[in-house]
Amino acid sequence: MSLMTWTIEQHGTNVSFADTEHQKVFHNLNILYDLRMEGAGTPEITEQLNVLLAIVADHFSHEETEMRVKKFIDYERHKIEHDELINTCTAMEIKIKAGELELTERICQLIKSWFESHIPEYDRAYSEALNG
Ligand SMILES: [Fe+2]
Ligand SMILES: [Fe+2]
Repeated sequence: MSLMTWTIEQHGTNVSFADTEHQKVFHNLNILYDLRMEGAGTPEITEQLNVLLAIVADHFSHEETEMRVKKFIDYERHKIEHDELINTCTAMEIKIKAGELELTERICQLIKSWFESHIPEYDRAYSEALNG
């Protein structure tokens, strides 16, 4: 059972690069979640976590570039949200690699929840500006 399923109703932003990249993020979070649920070892978990975080970082920087190009008014607040998730996940990744933290189902759920609220609340807000 997948952790997250992208739907246009819940996650569509009307910005095609963002929708495509969000689906890629969800797909890679699902892979991480499945590894966790199958009881995969730390090397496999950290490898996939690394892949996921690289995809998330690329996606955030893509959005940020587009928002700056279009002079989106709420850019700063949006970037702070991105930076907070990256900082939290990077700190977590270091601890997991060091064996000080286990990637739990709850951590996967927290990442899911972050996207479930960020996309409708923040990403949808740039739709008009990026399409203008
Ligand atoms: Fe996004
Ligand atoms: Fe965003």
